[in-house]
Amino acid sequence: MLKIALIIGSTRATRFADKPVQWLKTIVADRIDAEYEFLDLRDYPMPFFDEVASNAFVPSTNEVAQRWQRKVAEFDGYVFITAEYNHGPTAVLKNALDYAYPEWNKKPAAFVGYGSVGAARAIEQLRLIAVELQMAPTRTGVYIQGADFVGAWQQGAALEEMSHLQPGVQALLDELVWWARALKTAREA
Ligand SMILES: Cc1cc2nc3c(=O)[nH]c(=O)nc-3n(C[C@H](O)[C@H](O)[C@H](O)COP(=O)(O)O)c2cc1C
Repeated sequence: MLKIALIIGSTRATRFADKPVQWLKTIVADRIDAEYEFLDLRDYPMPFFDEVASNAFVPSTNEVAQRWQRKVAEFDGYVFITAEYNHGPTAVLKNALDYAYPEWNKKPAAFVGYGSVGAARAIEQLRLIAVELQMAPTRTGVYIQGADFVGAWQQGAALEEMSHLQPGVQALLDELVWWARALKTAREA
């Protein structure tokens, strides 16, 4: 069975991230093509990168980082649930990406963003970062933006009722699973 991680990319106490997480939990619960697990970066409180090198070259010493690397290694593909801070990804997500390397290699990455433009600018940066991590970023993104984002963020609207977002999420997961299966086969060959 394929294993897909959905990584929650912001950690602040009043984060919006929990709303898309709750919505995505109901969606992946109905899919039988993979095992889906949510990873919360709050559970991996790593310092700002403080090792002698990337673990591509030198094993990390920080115990939380080691636990994070072991967890990341379990999966065949990743969905990053991402905010946009000043047109880029959150620092905590970039730090978590930096804290692993071989664990990400040759696996697909997809992105669900939220913000004024659905975190599109952060996601474009994350796609470039993913390439350096030897990941395969997939095409379809989900961008919770504009009135949808403001409605859910400040006006009590429910993402569950935004049916127009559904086809994009399903397409994102279909693509991610296709690539996860193809790359798992290739890694094992
Ligand atoms: C430091 C900071 C920078 C932000 N910059 C952007 C931005 O560039 N674009 C955007 O659409 N929203 C921006 N926002 C608003 C966020 O979209 C909004 O606060 C969102 O809830 C952040 O995700 P989080 O609640 O999961 O942390 C910013 C918020 C913060 C705290």
